[in-house]
Amino acid sequence: MTADTYIASGNEVELFEQAFREHIPVMLTGPTGCGKTRFVEHMGVLLRQPVVTISCHDDLTSSDLVGRFMVTGGDVVWTDGPLTRAVKAGAICYLDEVVEARHDSLAILHSLTDHRRALYLDRADEVVQAPDSFMLVCSYNPAYRSSLKELKPSFRQRFATIPMKYLAPDQEAEVIVAESGVEPATAQRLVHCANAIRHADEVFHFEPPSTRVLVTAAKLIAAGASEMSAAEACILAPLSTDGAINDGLREVAAATLLSRNG
Ligand SMILES: Nc1ncnc2c1ncn2[C@@H]1O[C@H](COP(=O)(O)OP(=O)(O)OP(=O)(O)O)[C@@H](O)[C@H]1O
Ligand SMILES: [Mg+2]
Repeated sequence: MTADTYIASGNEVELFEQAFREHIPVMLTGPTGCGKTRFVEHMGVLLRQPVVTISCHDDLTSSDLVGRFMVTGGDVVWTDGPLTRAVKAGAICYLDEVVEARHDSLAILHSLTDHRRALYLDRADEVVQAPDSFMLVCSYNPAYRSSLKELKPSFRQRFATIPMKYLAPDQEAEVIVAESGVEPATAQRLVHCANAIRHADEVFHFEPPSTRVLVTAAKLIAAGASEMSAAEACILAPLSTDGAINDGLREVAAATLLSRNG
């Protein structure tokens, strides 16, 4: 499996292509490690578009996005930020964890995400019209949402939203095999283990184990770790910050996995 191989869980590939053709921005939501970044990379390859990724955080200013005047060798010159570069290049611009950005930083996106499809660079006194191939894609994890960090309705309603979730068991096992090279039976046990934890009562205050941790556990198993010790390191310990996992969840994991090699 290469970095752009993606196994679809529903109609998300078609929806994304349709949105691309109609110049509709896309919002991906879903838990950590469920495949959001992988999906965008895959769509970039499928649509033959470069992907420019911007990770959002609460210090991100609109100047970080669009650019700023900078002093270089005594001259003051305008330098495009990653968003402006993506618009000019007609790329897919992927704003990861967009809820982390402040509302005033995101306001710059409004004109870009409606019929105008233009970026207003007030300071540079320039209007950049987005070419047909430009597409804005944002993502966030609804589980991290706090009342302080809500996207405004005026922002959310500009996007076609694609909710992403973990793959069905057979497909998730297929991903694990392809990414790690473990035996299908091992991958199936890991998926079984993850689903048992995802559905356990004890997990309600944890972010459940993702496809990402299953792939990581599978790689350790491929390198010789026992299933249980790989699960301990990659599935159970990361559930909580202090690594204190209650015995109930450990038993849930142990019931689905082999404890010894071979
Ligand atoms: N549908 C899928 N097809 C192929 N691989 C997948 C899929 N879903 C998850 N994966 C695997 O899981 C890993 C994590 O996925 P990815 O990085 O896309 O998650 P994410 O949703 O972007 O997470 P985060 O919110 O933490 O950024 C990938 O590197 C890949 O190995
Ligand atoms: Mg990601």
